[in-house]
Amino acid sequence: MQVDLLAGTAYGTAAMPLRQPTILVFDSGLGGLTVLAEMTRARPDARIVYAADDAGFPYGRLDEAALVGRVLSVMERLIERCHPDLVVIACNTASTLVLPALRARFSIPFVGTVPAIKPAAELTRSRLISVLATPGTVARDYTRDLIATYAGACHVTLVGSTRLAGLAEAALKGEAIDDASVLAEIAPCFVARDGARTDVVTLSCTHYPLLIERMRRLAPWPVNWIDPAPAVARRVAQLLGPAMLRLAEPGDAPAIFTSGAGISGPLRIALAGYGLTQITIEAIPLTN
Ligand code: DGL
Repeated sequence: MQVDLLAGTAYGTAAMPLRQPTILVFDSGLGGLTVLAEMTRARPDARIVYAADDAGFPYGRLDEAALVGRVLSVMERLIERCHPDLVVIACNTASTLVLPALRARFSIPFVGTVPAIKPAAELTRSRLISVLATPGTVARDYTRDLIATYAGACHVTLVGSTRLAGLAEAALKGEAIDDASVLAEIAPCFVARDGARTDVVTLSCTHYPLLIERMRRLAPWPVNWIDPAPAVARRVAQLLGPAMLRLAEPGDAPAIFTSGAGISGPLRIALAGYGLTQITIEAIPLTN
C-alpha cells in the first residue's frame, strides 16, 4: 500500500495541486524522451504522460503559421484527454515560436525548451560557439534575440540540420544509420578561425542528445555539448513545488502518438526503457 505522507498538508505552489501532479511532455516525435528522462529523475512522484505529434514530424519543415496552428490544435486534444497540471514543450522548434500562443489559449503552466545560448556564452573560452538545431529553430527571431542578448561577445555559428532529427529517430528505432551521415550534419559546427576553435555546441533540438555518444566519437575535436534537459527538469521541479513522498508507479507511464505509423517492435522496447509501456494512438492527421 502506498501512503501519501504529505496528504492534507500544504503542498506545492499556489498554482499547483495537492494531489499527484500530472506532467505532459510533448514533442513532434521521440526527441522529447531526452527531456522525459530528466523529468523522471527530477520528479519521481509525478505522473508523466509523453505525447509525440508524429503525424506532424518533422516540425522543422513546417512554416511558422502552420506550426502555430498545428501545436494549438494538438494541444487542445491532449489537454482534454490528459488534464495535465503542467506541460513541457520538449521541442525547441515549437518552443521558440508557439509558447506565447499556448499561454494565451490555456491557463496551465507551459515550460519550454529553447537554445542554451546563455549557458554556452558563459562556458566558452574561445568565444566560438555553435547552435545545432532544426532549420526552423535557427531561423527564429527568438533565437536571434537570445544571441543578441547573451552572446554579443561571441561568434555564434547557427547550424540548421535537415536530417539529424530523422537520423536520431531511426537510431532509436534500431535502424542502422551511418557515421558519414551524422558527421555531415555536425561538421559545420566545428569552426576554426584566428587560431581559435569552437569549444561549445548547444544541442538545440531535443532529438540530438539521442545521438550524443556517436557525435562525441565523430567530432573533429572535443567540445562541450550542452543538453538543456536537466535545466528544463529543474525549472519544472521548481514550478511544481516540494515533491510528494509518494512515488509514481515505475514503468507504467502512457505514451500518446498522433499517427499510427512506425510503432515497431524495437520502438516499443525503446519506449519501455523510458518507462512508457501504455502506447495509445490519438489520430490527428496533418491537414496543412
Ligand atoms: N525535437 C524537436 C526540437 O527540439 C525537433 C524535431 C522536428 O523537426 O520535429 O526542435
